[in-house]
Amino acid sequence: MRCLVVLLLFVKAAFSLSIDSPESYDCVSAELLCKNDTVCNSTYSVLKNCTRGDAGYPTTAPECQEAGQRISQTPIYHCKCHHQMRKEELCLNIYWTVHVLYIPGYLVSADSPYGEDSDTNEQTKNLHFRSLFEPEFLDDTSNACVKEANTCGSNERCTQLKSEYVSHCSMTKGSCDRRKCHSQLRNFIRKVPIEFTKRLLFCPCDQDKNCGERRRQNIVPKCSFEEKEMKNCLEIYDICMGDNLCKSRLLDYQKHCHLFEKNIEGCSPKQHDLCMKAYIRMIGTAATPNFINNMNMDTSLWCTCEGSANKLEVCNAFRGMFTSNRCLQKVISSDLNQSIPMTVNNELRSSPEDKSDTMLAVRSETEKQRPPDSASSILAPSWTLLGPALLMWLLKVVSFM
Ligand SMILES: *[C@@H]1O[C@H](CO)[C@@H](O)[C@H](O)[C@H]1NC(C)=O
Ligand SMILES: *[C@@H]1O[C@H](CO)[C@@H](O)[C@H](O)[C@H]1NC(C)=O
Ligand SMILES: *[C@@H]1O[C@H](CO)[C@@H](O)[C@H](O)[C@H]1NC(C)=O
Ligand SMILES: *[C@@H]1O[C@H](CO)[C@@H](O)[C@H](O)[C@H]1NC(C)=O
Repeated sequence: MRCLVVLLLFVKAAFSLSIDSPESYDCVSAELLCKNDTVCNSTYSVLKNCTRGDAGYPTTAPECQEAGQRISQTPIYHCKCHHQMRKEELCLNIYWTVHVLYIPGYLVSADSPYGEDSDTNEQTKNLHFRSLFEPEFLDDTSNACVKEANTCGSNERCTQLKSEYVSHCSMTKGSCDRRKCHSQLRNFIRKVPIEFTKRLLFCPCDQDKNCGERRRQNIVPKCSFEEKEMKNCLEIYDICMGDNLCKSRLLDYQKHCHLFEKNIEGCSPKQHDLCMKAYIRMIGTAATPNFINNMNMDTSLWCTCEGSANKLEVCNAFRGMFTSNRCLQKVISSDLNQSIPMTVNNELRSSPEDKSDTMLAVRSETEKQRPPDSASSILAPSWTLLGPALLMWLLKVVSFM
């Protein structure tokens, strides 16, 4: 009887952990809980061996497949990470250790490793950055991009973070350390309030090419975006999917920019902010997007689909996530609309090429989506699945107490 009470208390605690405050059920804490349970611990040890790369089992080994199945019955499988957490990369590594069975596919709808962002944005609370939010710079709309840059310049911490990435991204003797540049860009985006980064990156320029060029140069594209050889987009996709951070952010971008919605209205104003943030967080990854010219806000990856042979369609679909993502374009235009008179040019949304790309993305998605109803429930676990699994696991935990 006492055991039952303990169990119920446990269930209640675990339920509120994973429902009410998803941020407490992050993968780092979940790993600690798992390691405390003999069964979970031994399964998890096998999985770590599987994702270690070098000397462990390949992930296709039967040991790994079996352990992957077993771990999906435990609560750790449902852990999430958060953009603002200090151990974001550790958390994502744990997430992908547990999700060893995940098979990347082009534009396959999958859940994001990131949980809902809590409203208490660490950055906004940061006193260093308060001045960035004083709205006086919205008075003059004549050269918004210069103004936004100056706003950063008036804040010591922002200036410091910006000069760190600018110095690492600068070309010396025709080259730069792209990896360092990306990591400093991510650092800037992580530490500066994202509301500010949004305004810095998407400052409206009307038809002013100097302003547009300034906007395009914000991320020092020579180092962070362009490469000597333009890769095939699918090569970028593969590199991204081989990196836990890039893979996670790409899935998050897919999720929040509603790439699978045939109906564009599916990208509701409520989603705009999340979509914009997810786009910004792609900057500094292997799939860093940027504006492609100084005349409008067309975005793209630095890659081509030429020579994709029989993969042309998937290549265009992946590229289209950045070049003709109607949700993102809607976000850009309505976001500008909010602060400053409308400036986004409409050609951006009505060029025939864009349309076909979007159609393609949607089409190849529906093709992929048709077969597996069961598979999608594995990829995007629902609470109903979690319930019994959680109980089973708790029963095991309690029996060891
Ligand atoms: C793990 O178990 C030990 C001993 O049973 C306990 O003291 C500790 O709090 C547990 N840790 C977690 C994260 O539950
Ligand atoms: C968890 O598993 C590892 C590897 O098998 C082992 O070294 C460790 O002692 C285990 N921890 C617990 C608490 O059982
Ligand atoms: C890790 O993999 C190696 C094979 O490369 C195996 O010998 C070893 O037992 C594995 N360890 C665990 C905990 O599964
Ligand atoms: C921009 O604002 C105007 C007036 O407030 C509104 O009529 C229009 O629909 C808005 N456009 C977008 C794309 O949100």
